Amino acid sequence: MREMFSAIAPKYDFITRVISYGMDRRWKRLGVKRAALPENAMVLDLASGTGDFSRLVLEHLPGARSVAVDLTEGMLRLARAHGLNEAVCADATVLPFADASFDCVFIGYGLRNFPCLGTAVREIERVTKPGGMMVALDFFLPRNKMFSELYLGFLYAQGAFWGALLHGSPRTYTYIPRSIRSFVSVADFSVLVQNMGYDRLDAREFIFGGIGLHWAVKR
Ligand SMILES: C[S@@+](CC[C@H](N)C(=O)[O-])C[C@H]1O[C@@H](n2cnc3c(N)ncnc32)[C@H](O)[C@@H]1O
Repeated sequence: MREMFSAIAPKYDFITRVISYGMDRRWKRLGVKRAALPENAMVLDLASGTGDFSRLVLEHLPGARSVAVDLTEGMLRLARAHGLNEAVCADATVLPFADASFDCVFIGYGLRNFPCLGTAVREIERVTKPGGMMVALDFFLPRNKMFSELYLGFLYAQGAFWGALLHGSPRTYTYIPRSIRSFVSVADFSVLVQNMGYDRLDAREFIFGGIGLHWAVKR
């Protein structure tokens, strides 16, 4: 993971906008807007990459504090260059924070990359205050088999094109459809979250379930 994301880091912001046709920004804004954060919210931006969620939170709520956490130092260097002071290198499955430290944990396209989804959600739940939120945006496996194949095929072709163009290697971005193929659907993730100490779950699907945005409140 670290090796792959270190190589991608310099082009990451560009490729995220291009591959989502600009929709990523809208999804993230919606994620932050509907999070109902308290005024001086303490936020964790997990698998932060260059810190998109942190910046949106600080724009939306200037009194908030956001800590960006990522496994890849190259991503965190860019997050710091974008003005984020608190950027910590750590693994999502063993977070260096006390129980109930955060009002909200945002995870943008991180879930699929964690070695064990259940362990990561348990760890997110541990560092969240009771009544605090988890907001997760990710690619998911569409439930319709035919659409799923079309979607993954499209992402594969698009990834190969941009990988070859930007990095001289078509395989650079084909990890995206590969990771989705072995991932869960939006509905399956909703069930997992509810079974793990969260309720008041709200989930939105985009691109026929190819992208999901979840808001969930810790009991
Ligand atoms: C696709 S990027 C997402 C970046 C950003 N959150 C966004 O929304 O654009 C996934 C990030 O997850 C990080 N990552 C992968 N496995 C991780 C782990 N076990 N713990 C923490 N971060 C991880 C990678 O380093 C990478 O920066």
